[in-house]
Amino acid sequence: MTTEGTHRVDRESATRELAARFARQLRAGDLVAITGPLGAGKTTFVRGLLRALGYEGRVRSPTFTLLHGYPTDPPVHHADFYRLADPEELVALGLDELRERGDVLLVEWADRIPEIERAATWRVHIETPANAGSRRTIRIARMPAPGRLRMARRGFYHG
Ligand SMILES: Nc1ncnc2c1ncn2[C@@H]1O[C@H](COP(=O)(O)OP(=O)(O)OP(=O)(O)O)[C@@H](O)[C@H]1O
Ligand SMILES: [Mg+2]
Repeated sequence: MTTEGTHRVDRESATRELAARFARQLRAGDLVAITGPLGAGKTTFVRGLLRALGYEGRVRSPTFTLLHGYPTDPPVHHADFYRLADPEELVALGLDELRERGDVLLVEWADRIPEIERAATWRVHIETPANAGSRRTIRIARMPAPGRLRMARRGFYHG
């Protein structure tokens, strides 16, 4: 069953369970843009997803490393662009190559880099209403016509 649509969750474990269901829909080369305010539950969603793919170790927020890879099938790379100072930092990450070889990319704060957001095959947006406690609204959408990652043309690559 698809997880496309709007979900209201009322606790952290419900976010992880939704992510686990979402994980079953992933295909090689998917790029998932995960957005929402600080503390919304983006990393929690990624944890639920990785657990569902069989990864049992720790999932840390890749805030400083920008990108962290996991030995799942397909391989998943978790990125967090909150602290991305210069889009050229993306060059070293080689996201387009990872995607072309069929790995899955999960990108928190994807909205910081419009090229990334436009290339997403899925969007997961988490909203935290005021005084919501542990309630969240999670919108999951499959993008009908995702763009390719063409960072080179946007000047992100040197030479
Ligand atoms: N329904 C819920 N879903 C997810 N997290 C929840 C929920 N209710 C409470 N929380 C809490 O909210 C916090 C979410 O933290 P998390 O690191 O996942 O957010 P984030 O969106 O990745 O933040 P950041 O923007 O800093 O990366 C956790 O402390 C978690 O326990
Ligand atoms: Mg996070």
